[in-house]
Amino acid sequence: MLRRMSVLAAVVLCAGKGTRMKSEKAKVLHPILGRPLCAYPLKRALELGATSVVPVVGHQAEAVEKAVRGLFPEAPLRFALQREQRGTADAVRSAEEALKGYSGRVLILYGDVPLLRRETLAALLAAHDQAGGTLAMVSTTLEDPTGYGRVIREGGKVTRIVEHKDCTPEQRAVRECNAGIYSVDAEFLWKALADIKPQNAQGEYYLTDLVEMAAKLGPVGSVEADATETAGVNDRVELAARARVLQQRINEAHMRAGVSLQDPATAYIEEGVTVGPDTEVGPSVTLAAGTVVGKGCTIGQGSVLHASTVADGTVIKPYSVLEEAQVGARNVIGPFSRLRPGTELAEDVHLGNFVETKKARIGKGSKANHLTYLGDAVIGSGCNVGAGTITCNYDGVNKHLTELGDGVFIGSDTQLVAPVKVGDGSYVGAGTTVTKNVPPGSLAVSRTPQVTKEGWVATKKARQAKARAG
Ligand code: UD1
Ligand code: CA
Repeated sequence: MLRRMSVLAAVVLCAGKGTRMKSEKAKVLHPILGRPLCAYPLKRALELGATSVVPVVGHQAEAVEKAVRGLFPEAPLRFALQREQRGTADAVRSAEEALKGYSGRVLILYGDVPLLRRETLAALLAAHDQAGGTLAMVSTTLEDPTGYGRVIREGGKVTRIVEHKDCTPEQRAVRECNAGIYSVDAEFLWKALADIKPQNAQGEYYLTDLVEMAAKLGPVGSVEADATETAGVNDRVELAARARVLQQRINEAHMRAGVSLQDPATAYIEEGVTVGPDTEVGPSVTLAAGTVVGKGCTIGQGSVLHASTVADGTVIKPYSVLEEAQVGARNVIGPFSRLRPGTELAEDVHLGNFVETKKARIGKGSKANHLTYLGDAVIGSGCNVGAGTITCNYDGVNKHLTELGDGVFIGSDTQLVAPVKVGDGSYVGAGTTVTKNVPPGSLAVSRTPQVTKEGWVATKKARQAKARAG
């Protein structure tokens, strides 16, 4: 048995149409907390160390395959196509070719069951080893088992599964249901699948027939899982309900690890996000996959962070949006800042309301507090960028770089026409259009001198009065 314990492959059924979703999009691609439904079971299989994972695709096969490859670009995926939906056994059988030559255990999962925990699957594999037979399965006890396959036991041992439509009244009274999740020895699996016939109420190839076949050869392992874990998604109401459970599970884990959530019901933290202790997350905040937030930070209400890094002690004020941005320690960002990809902020940077950055590297202690666009820019430390400053980075064809040295002061309403450099310690007067490089220690001003005509208003009014009278 030890021989089998060490290897694992997985088959994830993703071929279903999902008619009740009433959607142009394949069911398994509908997002739940920012990731497609099928991403969850696929991730579980990979976490358990599956050396081959076979998503069985059918409905919108190309779109599903493309999305899954994009989600797990490095993973050992081998796609299998089920052309026609002829039942769960037929679906798994489509994976045989992709797993040719593999011998070991095959974990079978549904692409539309997102809440299964890794621990439950690990327990399933352990139960398989312990029982020592060819198959182990997950069961769930339900208040209302209507529609599910019932787990039939004799003397406590699983002997078979009977689908709801094929049940006798006595079998219908059984509340222990088949969750549809199995660990099966590969050799037995492919041999047994070839023998399954669609002789049942639905005329389908039932994967559940495997259980009776396995029970004849040896003990069937089983683990019981909570109904919330094994629940699938058939329509959008169920999708929302599963998302809520997942959200709660993730949020509770963060709170237990020392993160304060002001309103756990509206904090949307995706799987795979890291948040340090003593960080406070406001209401309606989204922390999307790939985001890492340090300790002692504040993420203000309504802020949205995608694949961004925020170092310790930084305050993101409400309604800021960060996309692939790297924010250093002790920054103060927002409210209403927009940090786009390629933003890299050192420590103690301040960016205020309506400041947009893109491919901008900003040095320690620099500030841009109001109404500013900094794109394709390298800014030194200790700079002050005045309100309304714009880097004119685009000439209609190419993007160009703006470079500011250390300790530069940019007056309000300045345009920096790139490519352009302002040297260390220089000043740019308010309202200037900088088109030429400014050497260190200089003042650059491009304003036209101010003209003031005293008494001009009175003279004008007198002229108008005269015209009306005449
Ligand atoms: C199945 C089980 C049932 C179990 C229930 C748990 C069988 C025969 N029955 O029933 O014992 O209680 O799951 O939810 O296995 N799929 C394909 N190709 C097919 C058929 C199905 O990819 O040809 C996929 C579906 O998209 C879905 C999953 O397999 O993700 C389950 O199929 P479904 O038809 O919903 O099975 P149930 O009737 O619910
Ligand atoms: Ca189902």
